[in-house]
Amino acid sequence: MRMSVIGCGYLGAVHAAAMASIGHEVVGIDLDERKTSALAHGVAPFFEPRLEELLREGVDSGRLRFSTDMADAAGADVHFLAVGTPQAPGGQAADLRFVDGAIAALLPFLRPGDVVVGKSTVPVGTAARLAEDIGSTGAELVWNPEFLREGWAVHDTLTPDRIVVGAGPRGERAVEVLRTAYSAAVSTGTPFLVTDLATAELVKGAANAFLATKISFINAMAEIAEAAGADVTLLADAIGHDPRIGRRYLGSGIGFGGGCLPKDIRAFAARAEELGRGESVGFLHEVDAINLRRRDRAVSLVVEALDGTVFGKRVAVLGAAFKPFSDDIRDSPALDVAVRLRGLGAEVVVTDPAAIGNAAAAHPQLAYELDRDDALRGADAVVLVTEWDEYRREMDPERTGALVARRVIVDGRNCLDSAAWRAAGWAYQGMGRL
Ligand code: UDX
Repeated sequence: MRMSVIGCGYLGAVHAAAMASIGHEVVGIDLDERKTSALAHGVAPFFEPRLEELLREGVDSGRLRFSTDMADAAGADVHFLAVGTPQAPGGQAADLRFVDGAIAALLPFLRPGDVVVGKSTVPVGTAARLAEDIGSTGAELVWNPEFLREGWAVHDTLTPDRIVVGAGPRGERAVEVLRTAYSAAVSTGTPFLVTDLATAELVKGAANAFLATKISFINAMAEIAEAAGADVTLLADAIGHDPRIGRRYLGSGIGFGGGCLPKDIRAFAARAEELGRGESVGFLHEVDAINLRRRDRAVSLVVEALDGTVFGKRVAVLGAAFKPFSDDIRDSPALDVAVRLRGLGAEVVVTDPAAIGNAAAAHPQLAYELDRDDALRGADAVVLVTEWDEYRREMDPERTGALVARRVIVDGRNCLDSAAWRAAGWAYQGMGRL
């Protein structure tokens, strides 16, 4: 099929490359010329496993191209809308200016029978509004939310857990077009769920709200465990054996961040307020608050571990990305902890296998070391805030102990073997963990 993908950020770039890899002819459109020219050379503007391989394959085969000109979307049968929906400046709601701008720019190039596929995360009701303008060209709008995780984006796009397609009353043909577009996944038994437009939009918000709630639930239990002298990681293992609960996404520590969960739960709550149902998701404010409290707690654990003040102390911060396998620092709890420690007068040295470039651009006041050992050398305290394998698995307590000034470690992701670190003479402190 001939496809356009409008917006070549995280979602769009991966989607375009993935669609080309399964044989479609794809043009990716983005206003940012630096982005499109990097992508056209097979270079990913962000760190994502397997993406560059797919980009190069697609570009070399001639099936994948990139452009800044919306006119190049003309002639495609399917147009995926993959632009960003950031948090509105000064508010909680989603800022839809890129969605509206992209649709306005696309309208003159739509032909009767074309299918426009919304993938961006939008407040419920957006699709119905856009469908009117799109329908006036004879094209059809469907909504097909994306559930990809950074670091697993290629995997999640090519082999999704499920495909959800929301359509209007006359959307049957458009749904079938999408079923064909995704036939590689559909033919292997991937559930293909057809809904109305509003339900498809809500599915995405609900999924992210649930995931955020799951993380804040276990972090709330960490707060209780801390007060009661219990261990939240053992608690998570124990409740996680119940298949109705499940152990996945019960990782306790400094909480969630990134370009999606924080802004999406806020936008979801803001939209619920507009619909007069704010109280139905009032708990999301609590979810947000618990999440942010964990960052405060990590900072105070470092202060406590350093006898009441971090002023003038050297603190090695392991991690800057909001999670491993990513160089994304958007709303990163890891970097937030580093910035706050710096604000308290600590001499903070941050290391990260992928995110130092982004972190240094955003927070030049922090010191950075590419090499983990250089960051650790002479540290009065070590704070692990992103659970990269380099820290979680590959750091030896004895060898690390020989580098630092004091054997003090705060494990902000509850991911180290506490007994091994204590046995090597470290003052180990987890979060709600014994
Ligand atoms: C998330 C959703 O998983 C995805 O379905 C949606 O499309 C976009 O938002 P992503 O932001 O890539 O994806 O990251 P995810 O792996 O879900 O992690 C989000 C944050 O939660 C990270 O900061 C991570 O460290 C944190 N997290 C995750 C926890 O604190 N504990 C966990 O158990 C899992």
